[in-house]
Amino acid sequence: MNFKIIAIDGPTGVGKSTIARQLAEKLRFLYVDTGAMFRCLAWSWGKKGCPESDELLTELGNQTRIVFEDEFVICDDTDVTQEIRTERISKLASKISRFTLIRKVMKNQQRALVEEVRKSESYPGAVLEGRDIGTVVFPAAEFKFYIDASPEIRAKRRLLQLQEHCEEANYEDILTALRKRDFQDQNREVAPLRPAENAIIVDTGKLNAQQVLEHLLDCVAKEKGVSQPGVQ
Ligand code: DC
Repeated sequence: MNFKIIAIDGPTGVGKSTIARQLAEKLRFLYVDTGAMFRCLAWSWGKKGCPESDELLTELGNQTRIVFEDEFVICDDTDVTQEIRTERISKLASKISRFTLIRKVMKNQQRALVEEVRKSESYPGAVLEGRDIGTVVFPAAEFKFYIDASPEIRAKRRLLQLQEHCEEANYEDILTALRKRDFQDQNREVAPLRPAENAIIVDTGKLNAQQVLEHLLDCVAKEKGVSQPGVQ
């Protein structure tokens, strides 16, 4: 089988997860949320008091068991689906993702996961979303997308989301937090966030989620003849 890998990278709050999940569903590919993997490690790291020694970080990376079951994320036998989305874990994930050792473990696990699926022929391909998929983890991916939008637009969308859930939120606070995460992701020494060479850059500023999805599906269909099952 001609297994295909689609890498989707981009900054925080740009809607990558929604797009990647829908794209994977349409193509019947495996969907891998690599941010959730970092968040699980952060959850486990927090419980252990955030040790920074090489030995303990390696142990944490190698021993934390992360399982995706439908829409649930299970870490060390605990359902962490909700908890890993909290602000506390977002901050810890951003912190732990700077360690070279942790990035290496994550890269190897992500590659191993895809290799297993490729060998088992259970999916015709995989969509992985994160920050360094096209640059580091799968630089030879068949498709590399970089999804972008200005911090102001991302902050406005986030504000609307929170307001829809009747949560208290302030635009300036959201914008400041987004800019801080962007800075950390773009300026870390290892695997900084940037578009991969030959990545297709998609500015979602003037597009809604459906339009972005259609654009990605078009790019995939045009370039390598991958079509949606059941669609001519
Ligand atoms: O995409 P997210 O917000 O769930 O990611 C959580 C954190 O993990 C974020 O601070 C960036 C980091 N991350 C990373 O460094 N590399 C990835 N491939 C995915 C996420």
